[in-house]
Amino acid sequence: MAVALIVAAGRGERLGSGRPKALVPLCGRPMLEWSVAALRVVPAVTQIVIALPADELGAAPEGTVAVSGGVQRSHSVRNALTVCAGGDPVIVHDAARPLATSRLFEQALDELGRHPEAAAVIAAAPVADTIKETGDDGATVSRTLDRASLWAVQTPQVFRRAALEHALTSASDEELGRATDDAWLVERSGGVVRILGSDPGNMKITTPEDLRVAELLLAELRT
Ligand code: CTP
Ligand code: MG
Repeated sequence: MAVALIVAAGRGERLGSGRPKALVPLCGRPMLEWSVAALRVVPAVTQIVIALPADELGAAPEGTVAVSGGVQRSHSVRNALTVCAGGDPVIVHDAARPLATSRLFEQALDELGRHPEAAAVIAAAPVADTIKETGDDGATVSRTLDRASLWAVQTPQVFRRAALEHALTSASDEELGRATDDAWLVERSGGVVRILGSDPGNMKITTPEDLRVAELLLAELRT
């Protein structure tokens, strides 16, 4: 059976609301609780572990397990995995993506089940913008990338437990600090990572503008 780790220990500095982002209200409930609600109705998920700021452990909803987060996001993932006794595969999800649906979590689990060769399945949206690369001066274009093969990576990311454990324990603290997603740590150790095409609506909330857009989308989804 699967377990889910939600990372919610960030400070939300870019949102600037003076409290951890995961606890900022969104359509009447703390942002974190939208992801918890979506995961609770996924039948395969037997445990939800939430990494929170050390002084906010009481914010974990009933029936979930709280753990203190680390300095950077991947340290929080590692702390959460450590307290989660069993369960395979492991879903990793950012509290900052409150619009992830139960269906998306289920699709990611199913996709991993269908691909025995894969160590991980990650949600990602096709890139809509044309992406160019610049040279050393940071301004002159050196090439234009082929958009057809580019993906904007999201969470959930679903891992075979052994692959995630190996990736997190074999990386140094400094490498964990540089990891912007956990799949990169698995790729580095040679694991096969598959993309699950997802919707850009599974947005990440970073700024006050993002919060307003998410409020509108959630209100629409609920009507
Ligand atoms: N996160 C975490 N532990 C950290 C840093 C981040 O659990 N040490 C979590 C955040 O709570 C969030 C996700 O990782 O759910 C993505 O991080 P980000 O969007 O950068 O959130 P914050 O770090 O809270 O925001 P900011 O960078 O603006 O401070
Ligand atoms: Mg951050």
